[in-house]
Amino acid sequence: MPATAFVEKLTEQIGHEFAASQQYIACAVHYDDETLPQLAAFFYRQAVEERNHAMMMVQYLLDAGEPATIPGVEAPQTGFADITAPVALALEQEKRVSAQVGELARLARDGGDYAGEQFMQWFIKEQVEEVSSMSALLTVVERSRDRPMDIEDYLAREGGAEAADPTAPAAAGGAL
Ligand SMILES: [Fe+2]
Ligand SMILES: [Fe+2]
Repeated sequence: MPATAFVEKLTEQIGHEFAASQQYIACAVHYDDETLPQLAAFFYRQAVEERNHAMMMVQYLLDAGEPATIPGVEAPQTGFADITAPVALALEQEKRVSAQVGELARLARDGGDYAGEQFMQWFIKEQVEEVSSMSALLTVVERSRDRPMDIEDYLAREGGAEAADPTAPAAAGGAL
């Protein structure tokens, strides 16, 4: 039986999530190089989250008895014009993923794949949070672009690691 449109798109999405992870590592390394450790830590954590999203999708395909193939990814952007650029890029990326996740839910529903549709619900909620937190960070970095230590202080106060989410789907190999 050929893969459904949902399974094909979900396989592509695994690539987008790994690409997002690589992009966030590139952002983290950029800030690390600029000795902005809180911004770096924020993006290192986001990179792990994106890696986990990819591995949740892999686990779903394994559980659903579908072929689980790992796509290659495009190289991330590694040069940035100023302190705000990586965050602006990240916000654009999160908005794009929100649209992709919505499209995945629609494909699953249209294909009568209600398990697939239900699987996507967690990602829909997750994207609302990610767009919201990235857009808050963009507001902060734009306001304090000439006072990087204010951004570092904000993240030290507000940007700690999130509590584990018991509703999160299982990740292949276990979430990191
Ligand atoms: Fe993600
Ligand atoms: Fe994300």
